[in-house]
Amino acid sequence: MKPALGVCYYPEHWPEEIWAEDAARMVEAGLTWVRIGEFAWSRLEAQPGQFTFDWLDRAIETLGTAGLKVVLGTPTATPPRWMVEKHPDMLAVDAEGRPRKFGSRRHYCFSHLGYREESVRIARILGERYGRNPHVQAWQIDNEYACHDTTVSYSAAAIAGFRNWLAQKYQSPDALNRAWGNVFWSMEYADFSEIDPPALTVTEPNPSHVMDWRRYSSDQVVAYNRVQAQALRPLTDAPLIHNYMGRVLEFDHFDTGADLDIASWDSYPIGFLSDRLEDTAEHKRRFLRQGDPDMQAFHHDLYRAVGRGRWWVMEQQPGPVNWAPHNPAPLPGMARLWAWEAIAHGAEAVCYFRWRQAPFAQEQMHAGLLRPDSAPAPALAEAAQVAREIEEMPDVTPAQARVAILFDYPSSWAWETQPQGADFDYFRLVTEVYRGLRRLGVNVDILPLAGADLSAYKLVLGPGLFTLPDALRAALATHSGLAILGPRTGTRTPNFAIPVPLPPALPGLDTTIALTESLPNGAEEPLEAGGCIGRWLERLEGSAEVVERTTAGQPVLVRSGGLHYLAGWPDPEAMVRILRSACAEAGVATTDLPDGLRIRDTATHRFYINYAPEPLNHDGVTVPAAGVTWTPFR
Ligand code: GAL
Repeated sequence: MKPALGVCYYPEHWPEEIWAEDAARMVEAGLTWVRIGEFAWSRLEAQPGQFTFDWLDRAIETLGTAGLKVVLGTPTATPPRWMVEKHPDMLAVDAEGRPRKFGSRRHYCFSHLGYREESVRIARILGERYGRNPHVQAWQIDNEYACHDTTVSYSAAAIAGFRNWLAQKYQSPDALNRAWGNVFWSMEYADFSEIDPPALTVTEPNPSHVMDWRRYSSDQVVAYNRVQAQALRPLTDAPLIHNYMGRVLEFDHFDTGADLDIASWDSYPIGFLSDRLEDTAEHKRRFLRQGDPDMQAFHHDLYRAVGRGRWWVMEQQPGPVNWAPHNPAPLPGMARLWAWEAIAHGAEAVCYFRWRQAPFAQEQMHAGLLRPDSAPAPALAEAAQVAREIEEMPDVTPAQARVAILFDYPSSWAWETQPQGADFDYFRLVTEVYRGLRRLGVNVDILPLAGADLSAYKLVLGPGLFTLPDALRAALATHSGLAILGPRTGTRTPNFAIPVPLPPALPGLDTTIALTESLPNGAEEPLEAGGCIGRWLERLEGSAEVVERTTAGQPVLVRSGGLHYLAGWPDPEAMVRILRSACAEAGVATTDLPDGLRIRDTATHRFYINYAPEPLNHDGVTVPAAGVTWTPFR
């Protein structure tokens, strides 16, 4: 497959006279995709039912005849002001009961059925007009679900919807009371209409209540996405895409992904390093202008799974962004490196955000490929270089990974609901396992729990899984490779209770979690073989073979055959050691990479990706600072 580059463009922001020149410059830079329209509702329908399409017709025509393929967005992330007049109760409401008002974007509640219908209406109207337009070769539905903390809403529509959802799930208040354990603290309900969202309670609400609320909220995103997809399906053969975000876990992306053809995500490496990553000050300084070396790759692999193999980067950071606490500029080379890294992970397309920096409104400090005066910004030349390199490159064919990490959105909601240790974070746990594998140069696939086919994998990791579905238990029992589950895996029932027999109750593995501790910083337990366990430590009982123990003799990693249970959260040293020896036993080759260097194998090439601010050597290959290079497999 030949990957392609693209850019996000807002014709409605610029005088029509410059569209043709913009399009010509995009083509000249080697871009093939252009995403438009996702925020243009007020220009398409200035008043209810009063449509103005001629400008969009001409924009699509101009871009298309220049040779670009258009991704057309449904504009539903930005309902115009009149919409809020028409449906005053469509606004999302925060946990304190305050409406989240008009004046930016994403000001809607997923549960509001009136707004859902309006979204279907505009999607259908756009589909009818442009669904067979030859220039429109892909669709983006909405924009970044959940961004700005918009999944969970406490609106009247959400409360009514939740009660309904509960009534369907449990059928009777008694069944719900039993499932949630509402006898505890006299929380029993006599009618579904008595149940509120779990907010503003005096002390913590019942975790089963919170978990169902989170499931309900996720289901609304899925339903909202589905109705737009259903509206567009009969009107177009072009693929339907959504652009997800980084470290957004509030809804189940595998569920939305099932209704779409391609997953895409918006990659802002430097913004993420500053804004949504826990790490040492030293690490953040070292990678200040490059981003974390594993954050992007993790999301590439995650969204490849969400897209069932088909995925894009819909927005790629080109320079400083405007939204992180601090917004440094990328090192020269990073706009090229990020694109190649995505391609090496199988991206079909990488689109830079945005074409020209907007001198007005909220994002005026956000770089584009062009400056506000239309002069090239530094990333333009790098994008053009990637485009030329793609032309010279044979097709990039993905290689089958031999190591997989099981990933589960509800597990994130569960441990947020009941962290038990203040710093127990599911995303962090999973990405630390991922980082350990990447430091060893290993290609990783991410797998959802539902229908996970383990047969291709020599090593499967399942950290922090809230429940362990029966089908997965059965798959693990017959899996011929190695598997390491835990910590905390399978430690709750779907209703959020501790199962008896006690967890992890793994097939053929005689080990039981007898007691669980969470540990503050500084209270780590050293391991006999080096490194330590911190944050989380489960005390195991049983006759399973002990692989790793603390210096005090407490088992931490046990096994029976290939099936392992890990009873704590290893520090980076212990993590890498455990993973290295598991890979060695499983027959997965590893190599120890210098700090900041990562490798990624495709079917034909090994890519060396250097996030470090200095050149690094590995395997006799020298990779420039902020550089990427590749060698064909002989
Ligand atoms: C994304 C969003 C874009 C733009 C960009 C700025 O989250 O989809 O519309 O706001 O961030 O970095």
